Formats: sequence, C-alpha cells, structure tokens
Amino acid sequence: MQDTLVVYFSASGTTKRAAETLAKLLGADIAPLQPVEAYSQQYDQIVARGEQEKDQDSRPALEPLSVNLKQYRTIYVGFPTWWSQPPQVIDTFLKRFIWRIS
Ligand SMILES: Cc1cc2nc3c(=O)[nH]c(=O)nc-3n(C[C@H](O)[C@H](O)[C@H](O)COP(=O)(O)O)c2cc1C
Repeated sequence: MQDTLVVYFSASGTTKRAAETLAKLLGADIAPLQPVEAYSQQYDQIVARGEQEKDQDSRPALEPLSVNLKQYRTIYVGFPTWWSQPPQVIDTFLKRFIWRIS
C-alpha cells in the first residue's frame, strides 16, 4: 500500500502541475483540496476573494478528501503563495483534517 500522499490546492493550475510531477517522481498518491465554492478562473476575482479571506482570517469549506489520510506516513502539502503566505484553504485543511489523524 502506498504510504506517501501529495495533497494540493491550485486556483489556476501551476501548483497542480507541480504536485502531479512530484507525485509521479515519488510514486505517491495524489489528492486535490477542492473548495466547496470553487474559485473563479478570472485572476482579478481570485485576488479579490483571496484578499477578503485573508483579511477575515476565514476557513473556506473544503469538499471531503478523496483519500483516507490515516493510511499515509508522509503527506506533502502543495499550495501557491498568496501575499507571502498559504491561501486560507490550507488553514482549513491543517485545522479541520490533519488534527484528526494525530
Ligand atoms: C491572491 C493571490 C496572491 C498572490 N500573492 C503572491 C505573493 O505574495 N508572492 C508571489 O510570489 N506570488 C503571489 N501570487 C502569485 C501566485 O503564487 C502564482 O500565480 C501561483 O503560481 C499560482 O498557483 P496556482 O496556479 O496553482 O493557483 C499571488 C496570486 C494570487 C491569485
């Protein structure tokens, strides 16, 4: 059974490509972090929403993961840099998913 997982959030595809490359190199499983409310494909709208989420320190809801985190020993988390920090959906992932497996 595979014990390494790459999870990623990608609004416009760059992190997705990097995560897919990493997973292939490692022979790891891969799973996207999918916000319940999908991000626009328009850059200025992503920026506007992302800024609002940052300012409100929000935790945008995520769809259930496609994998069971408990089966993995190593989990890589991929995300774009938004204002020199992770997008708020990464906070959602770390606070609402990861603590359950510790
Ligand atoms: C809301 C927002 C904030 C960003 N802030 C930064 C930043 O602080 N520093 C930086 O180098 N790039 C920043 N970027 C650029 C993204 O990190 C870059 O476009 C990234 O490749 C997007 O990844 P994705 O295609 O997987 O969503 C920002 C992009 C967005 C949309």
